[in-house]
Amino acid sequence: MRSFLVLVFAVVVVSIPVNIPDPSDLAIYLNEDDFEDYLDLWLKLKYQNITQINPRNEGCTILVNGDLGQPQPVYIHDNNYLTPTGNTGQIHLKTGEEVTIACVGSGQNIVHPSVTSSTNIGIATCVNDTLISGKGWIDGVGAFGDLTCSSQCAHEALLTSEKCYNNNVVIRVGYTVNNVFYPLYWSCFDQNRLEVLYVWYEQNPPNAVHQVGVTRPSWKAGNFYPGVDVNNRYTVAQQKVTISNYLGTDLAEKYVTSTQYLARGHLAAKTDFIYATGQRATFYFINCAPQWQLFNGGNWNLLEQNLRTRIGEAGYNTVVYTGTYGVLQLKDSNNQLVDIYLHQDSNNHTQLPVPLYYYKVVYDQAKRLGTAFVGINNPYITLEEARSLQFCNDHCRSNSSFTWLGWQPDRVDRGYSFCCSIEDFKTVMPHLPNFIVNDLLT
Ligand SMILES: *[C@@H]1O[C@H](CO)[C@@H](O)[C@H](O)[C@H]1NC(C)=O
Ligand SMILES: *[C@@H]1O[C@H](CO)[C@@H](O)[C@H](O)[C@H]1NC(C)=O
Ligand SMILES: *[C@@H]1O[C@H](CO)[C@@H](O)[C@H](O)[C@H]1NC(C)=O
Ligand SMILES: *[C@@H]1O[C@H](CO)[C@@H](O)[C@H](O)[C@H]1NC(C)=O
Repeated sequence: MRSFLVLVFAVVVVSIPVNIPDPSDLAIYLNEDDFEDYLDLWLKLKYQNITQINPRNEGCTILVNGDLGQPQPVYIHDNNYLTPTGNTGQIHLKTGEEVTIACVGSGQNIVHPSVTSSTNIGIATCVNDTLISGKGWIDGVGAFGDLTCSSQCAHEALLTSEKCYNNNVVIRVGYTVNNVFYPLYWSCFDQNRLEVLYVWYEQNPPNAVHQVGVTRPSWKAGNFYPGVDVNNRYTVAQQKVTISNYLGTDLAEKYVTSTQYLARGHLAAKTDFIYATGQRATFYFINCAPQWQLFNGGNWNLLEQNLRTRIGEAGYNTVVYTGTYGVLQLKDSNNQLVDIYLHQDSNNHTQLPVPLYYYKVVYDQAKRLGTAFVGINNPYITLEEARSLQFCNDHCRSNSSFTWLGWQPDRVDRGYSFCCSIEDFKTVMPHLPNFIVNDLLT
């Protein structure tokens, strides 16, 4: 598979434009990590088309792809993360406009060729083009993209006092700059079952273009899985052991293969965050659930990409609630359905459920539009069985309002998929807060 991947990369790099295989078509050939790397490269080529259309203009123009350095500082502007303009993938600043540059974490320093004093936080002022000045810490002017940190910024996953469905806890993830916490996303987490009910975060037009070439950090448990080696529970070798305890070795070998295995499925996608700093903060297990790899790389991945592009083109300002529901059941040797969990505690209580459903509820509050997109996380059912698990009228199928959605809804191996009105969705899935919706978000 490695040599195949190298070949694909070589073809892609030397010949543009070509018909580059869609990542979902390659998911079957690539492992979890190689798939993410290929997706990243594929999106990079896609974005090249966008940036060529928009020439640099007055003040400062900084490209999300091309002008940003790593290890990356956190960029704060107007009491929020710095925001690119529309879906252009470009950050525009007026001459004189200021951005706070913060290298978050202990022992950190801002690194820049023209830095004059050792500091972990500084104000960068737009001069022109990609150039900034920094009063008291930068000598003259320098490139915005040459601002890096001495090491990766430290993000935090913090338990809040807020509660979500059924008195479960809310954990927030983000960065603290000058004693202010800047959230990236929130997780509604069941501490007993070690189950992520859902994660929520904003998705707006700027999210249509994210920084590519960001290295994948390792996954973190934080303080939320005491005594459980979560990373180990997710390994393919351990999955086989876990599933064979439920179903026997033969069936475990049949279900967990080199192409279909339970990946660490991001709820808020790495690529849903614009900057390297945001992307690196998605690798918490409280933002993850076990997901069959061909669903992860197939219809779920298509949904993530199509949604980002659509939100960018339509100018929606949304909150995405992305979560899991139900428990995957696999048939044992007597054709009896067995619930699958990746862990049991010392009292034999089941934990880390493998979900049956993955969903994304996308809601534009100002426009009062919302749609629930749902996929079934079980490649081992028939199309008939999948249809019987569809719990609402599918509004996306053959609907001219959803031509932007490229998933293959009947591909059970890639995750059988459908969409619901929010009203229908909520009659089945009670986890989400209430919000007012007048129509489908299309
Ligand atoms: C970039 O644009 C060209 C011309 O419109 C198109 O042929 C090509 O497929 C595009 N590349 C990607 C990766 O979308
Ligand atoms: C941008 O600012 C620098 C430093 O003041 C100056 O040397 C350069 O000519 C300016 N470039 C443009 C295009 O105005
Ligand atoms: C947990 O299950 C195992 C295997 O069935 C059993 O041997 C053990 O006694 C159980 N432990 C508890 C605390 O019930
Ligand atoms: C198609 O989408 C529109 C929203 O634009 C919705 O009003 C309509 O009910 C959908 N059609 C079907 C058959 O679900």
